[in-house]
Amino acid sequence: MGSTRIINLSNTFSKLGLNSLRNMSIDIGGMRIKYKDKDDTFLESHLVSKEPFGQFKAWFDEACTKKEILEPNAMCLATVSKEGFPSARFVLCKGYGKDGFKFFTNYGSRKANEMNNNPNVAATFYWEFLNRSVRIEGSVEKLDEEESTRYFHSRPVPSQIAACTSFQSTPIESRDVLVAREAVLEQEYMIPEKEVPKPSFWGGYIIRPRAVEFWQGQRDRLHDRIKFRKPKDGEVPDGKLLHQGEDGWVYERLSP
Ligand SMILES: Cc1cc2nc3c(=O)[nH]c(=O)nc-3n(C[C@H](O)[C@H](O)[C@H](O)COP(=O)(O)O)c2cc1C
Repeated sequence: MGSTRIINLSNTFSKLGLNSLRNMSIDIGGMRIKYKDKDDTFLESHLVSKEPFGQFKAWFDEACTKKEILEPNAMCLATVSKEGFPSARFVLCKGYGKDGFKFFTNYGSRKANEMNNNPNVAATFYWEFLNRSVRIEGSVEKLDEEESTRYFHSRPVPSQIAACTSFQSTPIESRDVLVAREAVLEQEYMIPEKEVPKPSFWGGYIIRPRAVEFWQGQRDRLHDRIKFRKPKDGEVPDGKLLHQGEDGWVYERLSP
């Protein structure tokens, strides 16, 4: 009986032409788009700042003016497990400045547990429309409760409730469980003048960067990469491969 079923199923597959799907490896090697023209290169003389935050601001502000870029503040954040396995996910950058890049999350989440154990992280912005990416390496620190609470209450109330509802990264039986939790909190807090208390398991982090690389894609694939980093002990810029920046940063051009 069972084997008849299998034969029937495989007949159905072959009728639908789905047999080929079984062991299929899809070749997307030919996928490529045109990047910038040769006269649109990113040279050292184009740096608007000799430290990474000013340069980031210039690129980020430009990304924000492009309607094609829906979430210019989305960044892919990579953390590492105790066993040394990396994992990456997107978060929204909610502030940046000379002190670093800020984001908010659940302090009980997988990423938070990993950062607790190893504060070294990497984060990458990608603005496809501009053929630009910014790549950050650094270590995280938790923001203080006051700043996290201030930001929490600046969010729309449904988002505040959602943050309270989810024990992020933990397995859950069904979506219904979440919806039921949300409904209880909505009844309690969707009332004018009533404030949703920030849960202690939710808050922000700041990435304090050690290196920030600016990448601009070029049509001829000779992409531009200019990397700011903190100098190694005793390292002196030679003005050729390594240049003196500002605020304790040096910068160098990397091969694409
Ligand atoms: C564009 C985008 C933005 C996101 N922003 C955040 C965020 O700011 N904070 C957050 O905790 N999760 C955010 N998420 C969800 C995370 O990618 C991820 O699913 C969640 O944080 C759990 O990750 P973890 O299990 O590795 O801790 C975002 C997802 C996307 C696609």
